[in-house]
Amino acid sequence: MSRLVAVSNRVAAPIAGKSAGGLAVGVLAALRERGGVWFGWSGKTTARDPGDPKLKRSGAIEFATIDINDRDCDRYYNGFSNDTLWPLLHYMLGFFRYSRAEYEAYRRVNELFAQKLKPLLRADDLIWVHDYHLFLLGSALRRMNVAQPIGFFLHVPFPSFNVLRTLPGYEHLLSALASYDVVGFQTEGDLESFQDCLKQAEIGGEVHGDGRVTAFGRTFRAGAFPIGIDVDECQTVAVANFESRDIRRLAHSLRGRKFIVGVDRLDYSKGLELRFRAYEALLERYPTALGNVVFLQIAPPTRTGVRAYDSIREDLERAAGNINGRFAEIDWVPIRYLNRGYPRERLMSILRLADVGVVTPIRDGMNLVAKEYVASQDPDDPGILVLSTLCGAARELDAAVLVNPYDRQTVADGLQSAIAMPVAERRERYLTMIDVLKRNDIHHWCRRFTDTLQDAASGR
Ligand code: G6P
Repeated sequence: MSRLVAVSNRVAAPIAGKSAGGLAVGVLAALRERGGVWFGWSGKTTARDPGDPKLKRSGAIEFATIDINDRDCDRYYNGFSNDTLWPLLHYMLGFFRYSRAEYEAYRRVNELFAQKLKPLLRADDLIWVHDYHLFLLGSALRRMNVAQPIGFFLHVPFPSFNVLRTLPGYEHLLSALASYDVVGFQTEGDLESFQDCLKQAEIGGEVHGDGRVTAFGRTFRAGAFPIGIDVDECQTVAVANFESRDIRRLAHSLRGRKFIVGVDRLDYSKGLELRFRAYEALLERYPTALGNVVFLQIAPPTRTGVRAYDSIREDLERAAGNINGRFAEIDWVPIRYLNRGYPRERLMSILRLADVGVVTPIRDGMNLVAKEYVASQDPDDPGILVLSTLCGAARELDAAVLVNPYDRQTVADGLQSAIAMPVAERRERYLTMIDVLKRNDIHHWCRRFTDTLQDAASGR
């Protein structure tokens, strides 16, 4: 079997107890099974030449990380990746900003990744590039005569053409994607948007019926590969920590009240303020909820160097303060808002404890917390997931209580129906969802993508 070389901006440091975003969780689980190299940014910047990658082995995975030049890093990561591409790809043009200098830095960092990766490569490697920070990496590697199969997977949504063309030079991104042998998306909807972009008159691409597309003089595969989770690991971790002191303390503090939980990075795409307002509507509309429900929102800060993220924290603190001020009693506080991260093993047990998991992003490629919430449940007495129709996970988890996050009354009604749902219905929904999660788990996702990549490259 070929060696797998995964490349992403963020590399999950092999540090026990450190929480990570969806990409890091997914890639780590995929590499753990198969083994291979994980190449990416060390998280540090340097004023000098970044030098050779630092290598560190942990089990079956060899981590190879590089520092990024401090002049480019801010413009590449905070700038073009998170101030331009992130809002664009999430259809949130109100946050979109563009600077040519930031794009140039992004291009240089993609080039740097290619230069530093190339000497580590072996002839029979499979290279798998992840996410929007590295759209240009495949074309940079091809220019350096790297001939190995290279695949690309986008963890976030891919927008429709009318949104994509907001970006000056969007054609460069599309043509860079044509350098890969396989381009993967989270959902059929994202794939269709991509195909539609290629078919525009100014691009002149062609979509063949067999999963191949032709554009910019190259024929390659484009497909939907919804990312899964390691269901067994998630269940084991959730159970193993369930009796820990912390979880018992939390359970004790609830005093038998219904417990709703949300776990999200503090990102505007997660719809957190709307979620708080929907919870407020629950308290307004359903007097039985007063004193009888506790909502815990865990939201670790993220991308603190990006302007659009600065105000979210304040807005949310204000909203939580308003709601608690309005409804709290001397022995009950409706919202517990924790602005920090938690180790993964503790999070999985918190999810298991919750009667309701609330995952209501206003746009999300997949959302692995939704899947983890279901997987962590007790099959005999499972909690219920309230899920936004606007995230990728809603395609597979359609047995959740589905809500449009913009409509606070609907979300409030969804929360109430989840709280009041009889155990027989909860079990039925759980069985439907866990079956989907097991059939398309992280190992299946990894195998499907790498098999497609191998196959595409041998047909090339
Ligand atoms: C999302 C993106 C990932 C990213 C993660 C955390 O899941 O798809 O690429 O790594 O968020 O964001 P950060 O900026 O901290 O890496």
